[in-house]
Amino acid sequence: MLLGTQRVTEDGLLEIGGVPAVELAERFGTPLYVIDEACLRDRCRRYRESFAAAYEGPTAIAYASKACLTLAMCRVVAEEGLHLDVASGGELHAATKAGFPLSKVAMHGNNKSVDEIAAAMDAGVGYVVVDCMEEIDRAERLLEAGHPKTKALLRITPGIKVHTHEYIMTGRADSKFGLGPGEGGAMKAVERLLESPAFELIGFHCHIGSQLLAVDCFADAAGLMLDFCKSAQDQTGFLAQVLNLGGGLGVRHTDDEHPPTIPELATITARGVMEGCAERGLDLPTLMVEPGRSIVGEAGTLLYTVGVVKEIPGVRTYLAVDGGLSDNPRPALYDAEYEVFFAGKMNAPTQQRVTVAGKHCETDNLFKDVPAPEVEPGDVIAVPSCGGYTFAMASNYNRLPRPAMVHVIDGQADLVVERQTWENLLRGERIPERLA
Ligand code: LLP
Repeated sequence: MLLGTQRVTEDGLLEIGGVPAVELAERFGTPLYVIDEACLRDRCRRYRESFAAAYEGPTAIAYASKACLTLAMCRVVAEEGLHLDVASGGELHAATKAGFPLSKVAMHGNNKSVDEIAAAMDAGVGYVVVDCMEEIDRAERLLEAGHPKTKALLRITPGIKVHTHEYIMTGRADSKFGLGPGEGGAMKAVERLLESPAFELIGFHCHIGSQLLAVDCFADAAGLMLDFCKSAQDQTGFLAQVLNLGGGLGVRHTDDEHPPTIPELATITARGVMEGCAERGLDLPTLMVEPGRSIVGEAGTLLYTVGVVKEIPGVRTYLAVDGGLSDNPRPALYDAEYEVFFAGKMNAPTQQRVTVAGKHCETDNLFKDVPAPEVEPGDVIAVPSCGGYTFAMASNYNRLPRPAMVHVIDGQADLVVERQTWENLLRGERIPERLA
């Protein structure tokens, strides 16, 4: 499974963005996050173009920056004309520092702090996605203290169960996010928002889950959301101008996964909204979606170097690499599976099955029973489809420095995140005088 601009050269090297992966490993060290910028830009364009083509009203695509946020990523996404979804004050700060147009930023969060709401109001974000009543109280106090009024969407939990890992199902009635229709209090929040001097309500939002490998649920979500729009219109006179159906489209991590394409998602979603509006006599709202993983996931490859080859005769062979749980916690958290390439031996015959393990002080087996050629310490392993929720969820467990990140495009590689140093890891720590 080669993704984006990945290709295999005649001498068996994996190339990304026109640069051999082994060369990147040598130049920047490993572990290394490699972003195929052409692939990233292609996904942004596909989203913009397919939604614009499929929907008869206005559309806007926001990149869900939680999947992978760097200053360079903000620049690319801005250049591609996308909006940006941020879910914390820290993400908003990164967007601001990168010079992202703040009127195209949406502020999310299920428990936004006073400081985060204040920062969003002061930055002049496009809208805040209101998740709960407490947030409206906080914003009203901030308005009194002189912070400006802000546009808002209200996050609804439409009560949909989707097929994905339980930890990333977010649209169910039993969810910490948003408010449900009916008993869930969403209509009360609409009434409250319509009276609130702090917010101008402009529409509704939902996000039903992540790594979804079927798209029918988006049409179902559209129907449920339009039911809510209709009830809100009937009960309060409020007309939703914006309907944001969240992110969630899955990506291919292995050959066995076949997620729908971006145009398929656009067609199903747009049709669901257009037909749903016609059935209910509603005007077409601006249709928004906010994909994260399906923008950046397949554009990212994670490189490691094999340090130890441990053969336990009759049991298995372990390859220990120079990273693991701290740079990609997804195998441990979600049993996520990935494909593994031997970046310098792409044409070498497969001879064995190996288990790739990390270097953390626990059993962080990353990839089990992967087909492998003959392997020696020093070989570079490339794990495709690692752009989403890896760097973003990295930790410093065992005080491993966070890896570097590079963008590759047209044979050029640019460092966008420096590798942390051991010294960086101590930043902010101090020894109280009594312990000195
Ligand atoms: N919008 C909202 C409100 C979200 O909560 C999310 C993801 C997205 C958009 C983007 O969803 P995407 O298109 O990336 O599926 N750490 C997990 C994924 C958590 C997703 C959280 N919300 C993982 O590694 O699989």
